[in-house]
Amino acid sequence: MTLYGVGLGPGEADLVTVRGKRVLEEADVVYSPGRLSRTVALEHVPEERIGDLDFPMTKDEEKLRSAWKEAAAEIAPNARDGDVAFVTLGDPNVYSTFGHLRRTIDAFHPDVDLEIVPGVSAVTAFATALDVEIEAGAGLSLREAANGHSPTGPDRMILFKVTDAPATHEGLVEAGYEVTYGRRLFMEQGETLVTDDPAEIDERDYYTLAYAEREDLEIEQATAAFQTDADDADGTSSGGKSNGSEPVADGGEPSGTRRTSEDRGSSGSDRSAGLERAEGCEHGDCGGHDHE
Ligand SMILES: C[S@@+](CC[C@H](N)C(=O)[O-])C[C@H]1O[C@@H](n2cnc3c(N)ncnc32)[C@H](O)[C@@H]1O
Repeated sequence: MTLYGVGLGPGEADLVTVRGKRVLEEADVVYSPGRLSRTVALEHVPEERIGDLDFPMTKDEEKLRSAWKEAAAEIAPNARDGDVAFVTLGDPNVYSTFGHLRRTIDAFHPDVDLEIVPGVSAVTAFATALDVEIEAGAGLSLREAANGHSPTGPDRMILFKVTDAPATHEGLVEAGYEVTYGRRLFMEQGETLVTDDPAEIDERDYYTLAYAEREDLEIEQATAAFQTDADDADGTSSGGKSNGSEPVADGGEPSGTRRTSEDRGSSGSDRSAGLERAEGCEHGDCGGHDHE
């Protein structure tokens, strides 16, 4: 039988894939490493089939190794006798605790069959939530920015684990980046927030990422020529368009596809209106070490 690593998506129960839901419904036991993943799993699985694993909040590698050995020893016999699942938020192969479990199972229980069901990762969900388009031909790098770090270099980056947004922001702006932050995106628990202002999210919340783009980045897409603007809509434009319903012809002067950080910020506040207030970091998930 099989141990399934199931990606739950960013945190809304209906963003679990159809395959992931089927595996959860059929598994004998569904193990969750944290409170948030447990909450999402509970939307698909009755509580009596949830198996909780105990992980210490520590960065001590020896303690972590022994916790993973214990977890694997608990899971392996059940995965030999039946089907079990281990859930993680997002995708099990992206910055996830599932890697620890897989390595431990491979090392100590190599006869256990293992299968992974990918999930909607924050790596892709951020683009919709922050209204960012990663165009054909563009590069995108993944970095971590915990404890106020400001990694730089690539034209575009997603920064995970942004725990001190004001400090991270300072370094990024100094290095010539425009930055948008996303907190608890597509998540049922807590308040979803999208903002360009690090002061709005100065309170630590582990489920915070950032998208950083070089401010001098030139983006030229063929379809940028279709861009409309307010002047065009009322027919006052002297550009290449006679009214709002017609595209700017080639050779017109479209303003480009890139939205300013102001644009992105305002759409963010609209999105967050009406969502529930955050519960802060009461879940152990956003403490010193996370297990999602
Ligand atoms: C340990 S990584 C897990 C990534 C996850 N496996 C995935 O594929 O999305 C946790 C980091 O991902 C980011 N993250 C994950 N889910 C998020 C969400 N719903 N909203 C904002 N950031 C999220 C945060 O930066 C957080 O610190």
